[in-house]
Amino acid sequence: MNFLKKNYGWMIVTLIAILPLFIIINMINIDFSNGLTITLIESAASDGKTTLEMLYHISGEFAIRWMTAVLSCTPFFILFGINNLYVRQSMGIATAVWSFIHFVIFLVAEGFLETFTQVNYIAGFIAILILIPLFFTSNKKSMRRLKKNWKKLQRLAYVAISLSLLHIVLLDKTWLIYAVIVGLGFIIRIPVVKDKFIKLRLNKTRNKLSIQ
Ligand code: HEM
Repeated sequence: MNFLKKNYGWMIVTLIAILPLFIIINMINIDFSNGLTITLIESAASDGKTTLEMLYHISGEFAIRWMTAVLSCTPFFILFGINNLYVRQSMGIATAVWSFIHFVIFLVAEGFLETFTQVNYIAGFIAILILIPLFFTSNKKSMRRLKKNWKKLQRLAYVAISLSLLHIVLLDKTWLIYAVIVGLGFIIRIPVVKDKFIKLRLNKTRNKLSIQ
């Protein structure tokens, strides 16, 4: 029971992150009879999209949603005083895994060299490269080992989200909602704004305690 109380946050994140994988698995055929062959099940997509378009759509959307969510953790803490390192780390891992899945789909469908044919793919590719060290240092051991440099390294996430948004803007897909959420987060992090929110929150807590 104590274990569940301590760990339910990251467990829920992991479950939500894993569920869409089942949709993806239902869209492909994996055949080991002659080496490894992966084929797409063409009738599996909906919304007038081909299966490949749907695979890009699902993986890309989950990658950007998790990236937006993980970048909203600090503003959420500033506003509400709630912080959970394990939840944040599992969101970071979900971001990286969904981005890697998205890229692997592209590699299988188009090939590696195709990555360098469009500015939007190159932007996405640099974002993926940034996610690699973030993925491997998203744990307490790395935090302890890297000390101050860990925070510096994590700041690369700002570059990753900017490049990912550029990728989506250039593709002319849904980007505004993510840009607004991330943009508001950046405003809340500005030291003067952050201090105001924290003071307001602490005053509210003090008032509540004095009423009780
Ligand atoms: C090497 C890196 C990447 C490549 C080659 C790539 C490639 C693609 C391709 C081919 C599409 C479909 C375009 C279309 O339907 O016209 C797409 C869509 C998308 N990508 Fe990427 N991508 C990369 C990285 C990323 C990253 C890092 C993110 C976010 C974290 C991302 C998020 C998205 C989103 C949200 C869409 C739109 C999905 C939709 O609504 O249909 N991509 N990407």
